Amino acid sequence: MDRSVEREPILLVRDLRKVYVRKELLLSLPQVVIDGLDLEVYPGELVGIVGPSGCGKSTIGRIVAGLEDYEGSVKVLGREVSEWRRMDRKGLAKAVQIVFQDPYTAIDPFWKVGSYLKEAMDVHFPHLNRRAVRERIVRALADVDLDESVLDRYPSQLSGGQRQRVCIARALLLEPKFLVLDEITSALDKRTESRLVDLVRNLFKEKQVSGLFISHDLDLVERVCDRVLRMK
Ligand SMILES: Nc1ncnc2c1ncn2[C@@H]1O[C@H](COP(=O)(O)OP(=O)(O)OP(=O)(O)O)[C@@H](O)[C@H]1O
Ligand SMILES: [Mg+2]
Repeated sequence: MDRSVEREPILLVRDLRKVYVRKELLLSLPQVVIDGLDLEVYPGELVGIVGPSGCGKSTIGRIVAGLEDYEGSVKVLGREVSEWRRMDRKGLAKAVQIVFQDPYTAIDPFWKVGSYLKEAMDVHFPHLNRRAVRERIVRALADVDLDESVLDRYPSQLSGGQRQRVCIARALLLEPKFLVLDEITSALDKRTESRLVDLVRNLFKEKQVSGLFISHDLDLVERVCDRVLRMK
């Protein structure tokens, strides 16, 4: 099926190039991590990115989420990410959310889950009153199969799978159009991984969010994603 005649992609990447410069002694050594990448993600699609360690998977995720500069073109919702970064960082952060590999460091250990989630709401929905904020938080937790009792806990009082679900709930709270999931199961055992992946699959279907699912595990990606981009 030719999707392009149907609708516009949410993410359109053309000729993406990323060079990191490593400093060694007095030398600057350029390292080309991504060279001429094309990629598109259509509404409602979850596209997998697989490849060996160091091939640039997370770099793509960070670029799409506006956390890194780049050469070439990366458009989300028709808007160039570099321009979006310059003009409206907060708007970009709301439209594109990223969930990282390590749920142990993603949440500040001194913050209770409730404060962590509330902070996201305060930044992005300052006009909402306390009751509305609470309602949205409880709904986002229910979306990831957690109940209100986690609000009063510190991250150390949750399992790895619960912590990762809190991170996904936080991302969902902002009602993003695009979600980057970067190795979200790699700190989890197989059974927890399987449950989390089913949950993600259902969430994407239900909420019509689009996204990238980054992993080094091809079997997993093929199970979860609509399409797969393989990197070398
Ligand atoms: N901020 C940075 N400065 C310099 N080099 C970097 C930086 N971030 C990443 N790199 C390098 O770019 C390459 C790609 O890194 P990236 O994190 O995208 O890989 P990855 O495919 O996600 O790997 P993994 O599967 O291990 O997570 C690596 O060689 C890494 O060392
Ligand atoms: Mg990575």
